Amino acid sequence: MRIIGIAGSLRAASTNRALLRAAATMLPDGVTLEVAEIGDLPLMNEDLEKPAWPEPVQRLRRHLWTADALLVACPEYNAGIPAPLKNAIDWASRGEGIGGVTAPDGETRKTPLADLPAGIIGTSPGMLGTARAQQHLRMSLQAIGMRVMPGPEAFVGAARGKFDAEGNLVDEASRAAVGRVVAGLVAWAKRLRD
Ligand SMILES: Cc1cc2nc3c(=O)[nH]c(=O)nc-3n(C[C@H](O)[C@H](O)[C@H](O)COP(=O)(O)O)c2cc1C
Repeated sequence: MRIIGIAGSLRAASTNRALLRAAATMLPDGVTLEVAEIGDLPLMNEDLEKPAWPEPVQRLRRHLWTADALLVACPEYNAGIPAPLKNAIDWASRGEGIGGVTAPDGETRKTPLADLPAGIIGTSPGMLGTARAQQHLRMSLQAIGMRVMPGPEAFVGAARGKFDAEGNLVDEASRAAVGRVVAGLVAWAKRLRD
């Protein structure tokens, strides 16, 4: 099983990217987690969809087409989804063919995100641990047909002190929460696939 991770922050020392690094250490045998980059995507603009999607958009979509599940590490900006993350979702949500590109052979879904199982984690210095942004994200992902796992969820609040000097997640309770989401997502994706 191949999980694609997206970190919603472009910051080099992103704590949300660190959550994905932690998640990558908790995978069962036979499961991989690869982080897809979103920093070079242009801002969503339908004028850029003709004659074909820009290369970074096509690259992201190719990654997602081959994924069995998506794990989003969602920061919170002003009580909502950070713009870079929303931008990536918007590009990936577009129907195949709009950008002059066709879906892989045999693919019947209309977009790489349709019917794709998704799990959400997130961290911020605030007490709510991105709960508000995660709620918005959940609504958007469900609206575009993703199979968003109802739970477990992971809200890593009060993030300062939960990461070491190298930026790795060291707080045991938070690591356990991320681990529960990883295990849950693998089971959720298997159940939907079978
Ligand atoms: C524009 C902006 C708005 C923010 N708004 C919130 C917020 O509403 N709630 C919150 O918990 N943190 C907020 N923060 C703080 C971010 O959660 C914090 O910068 C966090 O570390 C970002 O995640 P990262 O470490 O993955 O970059 C905001 C940060 C920025 C830059």
